[in-house]
Amino acid sequence: MNRLRIGIVGVGYLGSLHARVLSEIDDPHVDFTGVYDIDPQRMEDIAKRYNVKAFPSLDALLDETDAVICAVPTTEHYRVGIQILEAQKHLLMEKPITETVEQATRLVETARQKGLKLMVGHIERFNPAILAVRDKITFPLYIEALRIAYFNIRGTDVDVIRDLMIHDIDLTLYFTREEPISISAVGAPVLTDKVDIANARLEFPSGTVATLTASRVSIKKTREFRIFQRDAYFSLNLMSRNGHMIKRGDEAIIPYFLNMDGSTEPLKLEDMEFIQSIVEDRDPHVTGEDGLRALRIAKMIEKEISKKLAKLEGEET
Ligand SMILES: NC(=O)c1ccc[n+]([C@@H]2O[C@H](COP(=O)([O-])OP(=O)(O)OC[C@H]3O[C@@H](n4cnc5c(N)ncnc54)[C@H](O)[C@@H]3O)[C@@H](O)[C@H]2O)c1
Repeated sequence: MNRLRIGIVGVGYLGSLHARVLSEIDDPHVDFTGVYDIDPQRMEDIAKRYNVKAFPSLDALLDETDAVICAVPTTEHYRVGIQILEAQKHLLMEKPITETVEQATRLVETARQKGLKLMVGHIERFNPAILAVRDKITFPLYIEALRIAYFNIRGTDVDVIRDLMIHDIDLTLYFTREEPISISAVGAPVLTDKVDIANARLEFPSGTVATLTASRVSIKKTREFRIFQRDAYFSLNLMSRNGHMIKRGDEAIIPYFLNMDGSTEPLKLEDMEFIQSIVEDRDPHVTGEDGLRALRIAKMIEKEISKKLAKLEGEET
């Protein structure tokens, strides 16, 4: 088999982590060729650190790669993503897939027409706590997610729903395997002009209810995900990557501490999955369609919040 040549566009915070991960993948069939970033200093630093090429343009990177990881800011995802796919290269796009549903639909359709892999970086799917329970979740009745973070200017090109809540939207859709029939939400712009804190309640056709809370204006950091179904309760800490399950035992009600395999970091599992999906010519674990579905729900939540905020403003004036 030919070597799979892979490159990264955008080597800021997350792109530089992808660069470290790619440099650690010890596979003779994979060749980390290089990086491109509009910030030349940053690009040179990363290229030097991992001993790969710093390309003078995205086109130059595309000429020498078969697959690209795209970690530019979300506002650039579509413009850069479509250029990658048009050049006939496989694409791992960071989350959220794009800013708008129309853009995401175009990326998904372009990848499909060209027979390319399009994966989206919903990294929590590779969290050991999620991997430990995914086969045990049969019919979730209730899901509760709490994701709160310190304020950080990175990510504020989009609101907290597309920045943070999108992770829990993706997990909820993954576990329910359904689209919600009703959505209600509240939110507020606290520190930026976009919504910084939000809560959404989703109801699904088979009866599952999910409540998701996301904030980027907190003084502590939490990522909790809880699920209950008829026979079990799962409490997962996605930050410390552990959790427990409560279910009825033969003689007592006992908590089972879930057996996590934390030997490989989620970002590495994600990048390896992207590579494997290309090598094995199969769908990746998180497809472009998954990214599109999560974005569509994020947009519906945003719409509900906008309606409420507009009503409040109307009442104030
Ligand atoms: N999966 C996760 O948990 C997670 C975590 C953080 C960020 N992200 C996502 O990763 C993406 C990047 O976020 P970040 O925090 O690394 O941002 P960042 O600002 O640290 O890095 C972005 C980099 O892209 C470069 N860039 C901007 N426009 C470009 C263009 N047109 N071509 C080439 N380079 C360009 C910038 O110079 C910068 O170095 C965002 O979409 C964000 O949502 C995902």
